[in-house]
Amino acid sequence: MDLQNIQQEQQQQQQTRHDHQTQHTAIVTGSTRGIGKETALLLLKNEMNVIISSSNQENVDHMIQEIYEKFPSKKDNILGIQCDVSKYSEVKSLVDKTIERFGRIDILVNNAGIVSYKNIIDTTEDEWNKTIDINLKGVFLFTKEVLPHMIENKSGGVIINVSSGAGKSGFANMASYCASKFGIIGLTESIAEEVADKNIKIMAICPGGVDTKMIKDLINQGVDRSGMKLLKPGDVAEKIYDMISNQKKYANGQSIEFYNN
Ligand SMILES: NC(=O)c1ccc[n+]([C@@H]2O[C@H](COP(=O)([O-])OP(=O)(O)OC[C@H]3O[C@@H](n4cnc5c(N)ncnc54)[C@H](OP(=O)(O)O)[C@@H]3O)[C@@H](O)[C@H]2O)c1
Repeated sequence: MDLQNIQQEQQQQQQTRHDHQTQHTAIVTGSTRGIGKETALLLLKNEMNVIISSSNQENVDHMIQEIYEKFPSKKDNILGIQCDVSKYSEVKSLVDKTIERFGRIDILVNNAGIVSYKNIIDTTEDEWNKTIDINLKGVFLFTKEVLPHMIENKSGGVIINVSSGAGKSGFANMASYCASKFGIIGLTESIAEEVADKNIKIMAICPGGVDTKMIKDLINQGVDRSGMKLLKPGDVAEKIYDMISNQKKYANGQSIEFYNN
């Protein structure tokens, strides 16, 4: 390759990098399956750069491979990063890598979550801590790390926290899960007060039952699904997308219940 070709290639790379840095960038935690996966794909289809992540490297690699095969033109718009949302060093590293690659963060969807189905007496301290650390502390860590970049980014930002119908009403054998999801609503309302004058909107979505691995695992553990009209993960993704793209319809700090009626 001669010098002219090398210079042209470098200019093209710089242009591509510039194009990606002018495009909106979204982080979706827990985006290797279920609601997070559908949300990530929807944001990608709507011309955003998207960070795909979960706690398991193999699941991340699998999701990235699936996107490469189904949407080859989006190859440069995604970044796959293993990240356990409950570990500060991993959260910080994901945010740093996002800024390094895309230069900005406009959207954060705090979606990663687990559920534990056990009565309160049998719940161990470790089980309690794990649920709270992933479902609630993870939202705190990501919000804390991402907000400074959104504030710096003059066009502002949107944060969607995935709570649950179980963040509005308690359920037997799900105390740690419900406590974490109620907690997300308090966190969302409080942070909304802090960022009200910074062109940043933070909201929570509280879906009813959704047909994903999580609900299948619960049903396998004995949860009665009679009378439960499950949503599809894509329905929740569309609602999240509406909350991002039609923000004026929603109040800052609002938690929106979303059921399959
Ligand atoms: N399904 C429902 O009925 C329902 C209803 C209301 C709200 N929600 C909420 O919706 C969210 C998504 O749930 P889903 O139903 O889509 O569940 P899911 O299919 O089990 O997906 C959960 C996602 O979170 C990831 N994850 C789990 N632990 C993680 C960790 N420590 N760090 C980072 N990622 C982690 C999983 O990947 P890895 O395992 O690879 O880490 C996976 O990508 C959760 O917050 C859940 O509480 C679900």
